[in-house]
Amino acid sequence: MDLSDAKEEVKKAADIIEIIGQHVQLKKRGQNYVGLCPFHSERSPSFTVNQDKQIYHCFGCGRGGDVFTFWMDYHNLSFSQSLKDLAGRYNIDLPRYGNLPAEREKAELKELLFKTNRLAAEYFHNILVKSADGKPGRDYFSRRHISGETISKFKLGYAVKRWDGLINYLRSKNVSLGTGAKAGLLMAKKDGDYYDHFRDRIIFPIFDLNHQIIGFGGRVLGDSLPKYINTPETPLYHKGESLYGLDSAFKDIRERGLAIIVEGYMDTLVLRQHGISNVVAILGTALTSDQIRRLKGYTKEVVVLFDPDDAGRLAALRSFPLFLNEGISAKVLVLPQGEDPDSFVNRYGSDEFQELLEGAIPIFDFYLDQALAHMDAGVDGQIRVLREVLPIFKDLESGATRFLYVQRFSEKTGINEAIVWQELRHWENNRSERRDSSRLKGRFLLDQDPRRYGSDLQFLNLLVHYPETIDAFKDKEWALFVSDPEIIEIIRVLIEQFPLGGGLDGIEEFLDSPGAREQLRVVSMSKSFYAKELVNQAVSEFAKKIAKIKISQSISHAKAEGDMEMLNRLLRAKQDLDLVNKSN
Ligand code: CTP
Ligand code: MN
Repeated sequence: MDLSDAKEEVKKAADIIEIIGQHVQLKKRGQNYVGLCPFHSERSPSFTVNQDKQIYHCFGCGRGGDVFTFWMDYHNLSFSQSLKDLAGRYNIDLPRYGNLPAEREKAELKELLFKTNRLAAEYFHNILVKSADGKPGRDYFSRRHISGETISKFKLGYAVKRWDGLINYLRSKNVSLGTGAKAGLLMAKKDGDYYDHFRDRIIFPIFDLNHQIIGFGGRVLGDSLPKYINTPETPLYHKGESLYGLDSAFKDIRERGLAIIVEGYMDTLVLRQHGISNVVAILGTALTSDQIRRLKGYTKEVVVLFDPDDAGRLAALRSFPLFLNEGISAKVLVLPQGEDPDSFVNRYGSDEFQELLEGAIPIFDFYLDQALAHMDAGVDGQIRVLREVLPIFKDLESGATRFLYVQRFSEKTGINEAIVWQELRHWENNRSERRDSSRLKGRFLLDQDPRRYGSDLQFLNLLVHYPETIDAFKDKEWALFVSDPEIIEIIRVLIEQFPLGGGLDGIEEFLDSPGAREQLRVVSMSKSFYAKELVNQAVSEFAKKIAKIKISQSISHAKAEGDMEMLNRLLRAKQDLDLVNKSN
């Protein structure tokens, strides 16, 4: 049998619905199955699989193919490795593989590294469970309440306190030390020699979804630093891509419709031991969109454990758009101060943990609660929080979602919604402002003060929310104090086309620039600045503002001309206006 025969055999045996269905939640729709694409962000399914033809296609990102391309793409493997995996699943014999020399070389290297990892894991594990040298490891695990069953299920191990423990073992198995180094298990010295990377540490092998070992984590037994080390980047292990424990959790995650994400190896193991099986851990990095995408084939709901401190608050904020853009509803579970999942479950048991789980709160609310609890009083605190969320709001792909969250944000923080929109636009348009918070603060103070009727945006807000006021400015030189060109465009249209105080239907058609149309939508959808009973006052304030600017201009003019009589009259008029202002 040659390779193409083998390929045909596999095609006959493999069912694409079964293979893909293991990683993507598929629903029957007509003659096809559909699900959320695992290759790009989406919230409604465009990923389509056809059982008769044994092919798939994503109408969103255009990726598609047969069961082999899926396997290659999803697991990031070469064709020959995929063929091998799939043939293995269906007990189909393969000729020695290989098509292109380069591809074969890569596949062979990966296979060699998998084998090296497997050997190393066995070595560490056997020491832990069988050898006298493993006693420190055994003692450690028993102190941490890790059972023998967990040790064997997760193939935990112990690396002895030597520079050449694994080296000797690999030698005895005819694995070259260079290969051990490529697997990230050995480190090279300057003189070309090698030494063991993991020494006097307990060992956590990290598995991929095919239960192959891609890397390791190692923890010290005592308090020395660094507490954890991991496999460095290798052809098999890429930081931030995998989730610890996913290979043994994905079925439960799918069944329960929920994944719990924790930070550490120990948290995962201890929760599992308490029967909480839908747990995975990130491995020493912030949560990444790769990891979220890994999960979304199994569930649309995730609970993350973040610490209730500044770091946890920011971690929650950063992960918020990642989840939202993948269409996953994410909540945060807060443990009592000083506890991590491991210590909590050991102390209180799994029932209490489940109870806490019920009280998990949506990730954005968690962020807001934390931010408000830690927000310094006054404008500076508000500005700090506003600056934190602007880039996040910008990253939200759906406009509708953005509106929703801006509204929630302004309700909770007390920062006027229109201001959030305005700052978001500034932030998007002007890179230099992102670093410069003093200008933001200037605008912010101006706009937050309800007694100031100054800003362009407030004037526009008045006209849009109370179109009956438009007429009052028909003959006034409002352009004297409005400077934003987009707002000028909108107001001009309002005054020229909608002067009779009717509704504003169809106004967008009169606006030429997309910026103006967006600005109008934003103002229409945000709340009114002015309560009904303040509308008349607002109109007269704006009218006075125009009058004052005109008088000031005339004063300069009269001064320049030397027209003293005119100047006197103008100064009196100005005084009168100021007096009226003060009595208000
Ligand atoms: N981690 C890491 N490198 C470090 C510290 C931590 O990779 N120097 C990762 C590990 O995956 C670890 C997780 O971050 O499991 C959480 O770290 P930490 O909270 O410090 O440890 P715990 O998991 O609580 O470990 P333990 O309970 O064993 O102290
Ligand atoms: Mn811990």
